Amino acid sequence: MDSTSKATASIPSRVTWVWTNLKGKRAFYCLGIMGSITFNVMQLTIPFFVAKLIDTFIDGENAAYNLEHNRNLFYFYIAAMVGLTLIRTMIVYGTGMIFESASQWFLYKIRNELYDKVQRQDMNFYNTYRTGDLMTRMTGDLDAVRHMIAWVIKTIIESVTLYAATMVYFFFMDWQLALILLIISPLIFIVILKFRKDVGPKHALLREKLSGLNTNAQENISGNRVVKAFAREKYEMEKFDQGNKEYSETNKKTALTWLKYYPAIETFANLMPIILLVVGGIFIINGRLTKGEFAAFSGLIWAIANPMRNLGSIMNEFQRFKAASAKVMEIYYSEPKIKDAPNAVDRPDRFKGKVEFKNVSFKYEDGKLPVLENLSFTVEPGETLAIMGETGCGKTSLIHLIPRFYEVTGGQVLVDGTDVRELKLQQLRKNIGLATQEVLLYSDTIDGNIAYGDDHLPKNEVVKFARYSAASDFIAKMPEGYDTIIGERGVGLSGGQKQRISLARALAIRPAILILDDTTSAVDMETEKEIQESLKHLDFPCTKIIIAQRISTTKNADKIMVLKDGHILEMGTHEELIEKKGYYRSIVDLQTGGEQ
Ligand code: GTP
Ligand code: MG
Repeated sequence: MDSTSKATASIPSRVTWVWTNLKGKRAFYCLGIMGSITFNVMQLTIPFFVAKLIDTFIDGENAAYNLEHNRNLFYFYIAAMVGLTLIRTMIVYGTGMIFESASQWFLYKIRNELYDKVQRQDMNFYNTYRTGDLMTRMTGDLDAVRHMIAWVIKTIIESVTLYAATMVYFFFMDWQLALILLIISPLIFIVILKFRKDVGPKHALLREKLSGLNTNAQENISGNRVVKAFAREKYEMEKFDQGNKEYSETNKKTALTWLKYYPAIETFANLMPIILLVVGGIFIINGRLTKGEFAAFSGLIWAIANPMRNLGSIMNEFQRFKAASAKVMEIYYSEPKIKDAPNAVDRPDRFKGKVEFKNVSFKYEDGKLPVLENLSFTVEPGETLAIMGETGCGKTSLIHLIPRFYEVTGGQVLVDGTDVRELKLQQLRKNIGLATQEVLLYSDTIDGNIAYGDDHLPKNEVVKFARYSAASDFIAKMPEGYDTIIGERGVGLSGGQKQRISLARALAIRPAILILDDTTSAVDMETEKEIQESLKHLDFPCTKIIIAQRISTTKNADKIMVLKDGHILEMGTHEELIEKKGYYRSIVDLQTGGEQ
């Protein structure tokens, strides 16, 4: 389907998957299954004793005599019926608890595992799957899976046991009558198989519709500002309404599918008591069957007919499970492509911060054209590299190769002389402080956001890094200072304020390599100057790679690199590039009004 699912490891069967994840509760779950079987076999005891009572004390040859002289047996039958009913009730209660708790345990484990998987995925994964779809997998789909374990399997076991046990009992009483009753079964199975073929694709479609609806809602809620800005509420409402209608229609169609097959099943199921009445009646007249046995047959005919009726809803739920579990398992067994090499070098110490690109080429998996071509440059520890270039030239793509968000398609990216593919991801990324172009802050306190990469960062350090990024002044003016929760109760931040917090967050891990992607673009010139000044005087050694458009940011860099269409157009110091009178010079002239 897509590039990411290709990375999916081979997916085992659903049974294996469920069984693997029941680990820790397997014995418990099997106990529930045994309980279900026991309970259903015990359902036969009442008609068994009723038959005994009738034949021994009510209708048999010696009924009157037995009633007179065998009172104890009579009381025993009654007591056994009451006692077994009590035990059965207890078993039902117990198994209900077991299935519920085992399925909740399963749900809990899978949900955690899924969340883990999603967390560990690489960028390509997030480019492929939409948030709404992932959310559907982790909620609705997962619940369909749980339903299978809690209800469907239980119902299947109950139905099969009941049916089988009753059949065995019937065969023992009168095999011919049992055989005649059995004739109906194949017809019912044929109908159910047809139903399965019909309803299966509908469940798959229904699931897609729900996912689409959720994605639509999610994108709308997070993008509500755009909707409002363009006054597109009506359009969006109509779009949602359309999706909602389709979902509702598909839901209805799926539910109604059963109604097409239901009359046939019901007719077959209802045929059973009639066959019993006719054939059983003849057998009684012939003296083959006692009245007690007939009572047992007719008292248990439901135990043959009901499992057949249940087959419909079981099949329905099973198809729902099939559609949902495929979606859940796809994520469950997906593996990020970018992960530690088996022989990755261990570099637990702080990196020195040398970054080297050797003939690097890069293309997005889903992209047609190469974004970077044959790029080579080196940034020594402690140096500052500024990257410039028109929009879309590949700056962000370039810096994303350093923390190995994407894999190069040619050449090598080396950090401290080691190819990033040979470093441990965790160790590599811990050494890189990145302020991304699109700032994302958590709905947490300002303090919590700055200390995101290091929970144990003391308060005074948080304040220090806020000062480095020229954020301390505006934070001091916030209602609760560093404890102000962002995004709550009307506490919004401006674009520049967000950028400064994101810079503080990147600095707070004291990275060996600091990467800033247009991080001061929304900050005024004065504040930016202040930030540049602090970056020069950080109290830890740090290599800086800064994407910027303003000359004021780039001019103090040790090296300036101008990118164009994935190539290095120019590279040198501010002075060298001005001398060169190329692209950089034209930008300088443009920004300074030609004063240079
Ligand atoms: P600005 O941030 O606008 O200054 O541009 P940039 O220099 O950072 O460009 P970037 O590296 O983001 O993009 C370079 C090229 O790659 C552009 O042509 C984009 O269309 C393309 N591109 C960026 N991200 C993706 C992606 O996730 N998938 C694909 N297929 N192409 C991408
Ligand atoms: Mg960019």
